[in-house]
Amino acid sequence: MKRDDWFPTPIWHFEVPNYQELNQKLLPAIYNEHQKDNQGLNWSNSLGWHSKDYLHQQPEFQAIVNIAINNALEAGQEMGFDLQRFTMFVANCWAIINPKFASNFLHNHPNSILSGVYYVKASENCGGIFFRDPRDVAHMFMPKIAELTPWTIQKITYKATEGTMIIFPSWLNHGVEVNLSDEDRLCISFNISMSHRA
Ligand SMILES: [Fe+2]
Repeated sequence: MKRDDWFPTPIWHFEVPNYQELNQKLLPAIYNEHQKDNQGLNWSNSLGWHSKDYLHQQPEFQAIVNIAINNALEAGQEMGFDLQRFTMFVANCWAIINPKFASNFLHNHPNSILSGVYYVKASENCGGIFFRDPRDVAHMFMPKIAELTPWTIQKITYKATEGTMIIFPSWLNHGVEVNLSDEDRLCISFNISMSHRA
């Protein structure tokens, strides 16, 4: 018997080289943004701070934006996107500070192709990012499950780890668990879009 796996949902994750050095610069840059714009924006954040979404236009965030684009291009290449005629760019980029007890509701990122997150500060129990199986109809009748596999699992959680970047399809519903640590949880999120090559 041959099996074909159609309609898979990829989640890429990797450690950014020299992330300690990068985070040393990003940490004060994010707190600086917070000081300039204490109010922030209200999206998926519960008790946390969400910056304005154009950090990619600021020089302090160029290094992480370039890493995001390069890896999104690799992801697009794997999936078979037309990268001869089109290229990718960061359409929005924002920072989130989740203090103790803050979290992010289940949500997705409309008007975007790939999205991602990079962890600048993440202590133990600061809250993982979880993804829900997007195939709602697959759960109308659940089989009896002997083991969790990519076919039976309904929710997958990735621990927030400093220096790690996660990239996923923008339509994939996700949220962030409550920060149960005593320290702030800082991350940078981004949306990737595509445009015609010049
Ligand atoms: Fe998100």
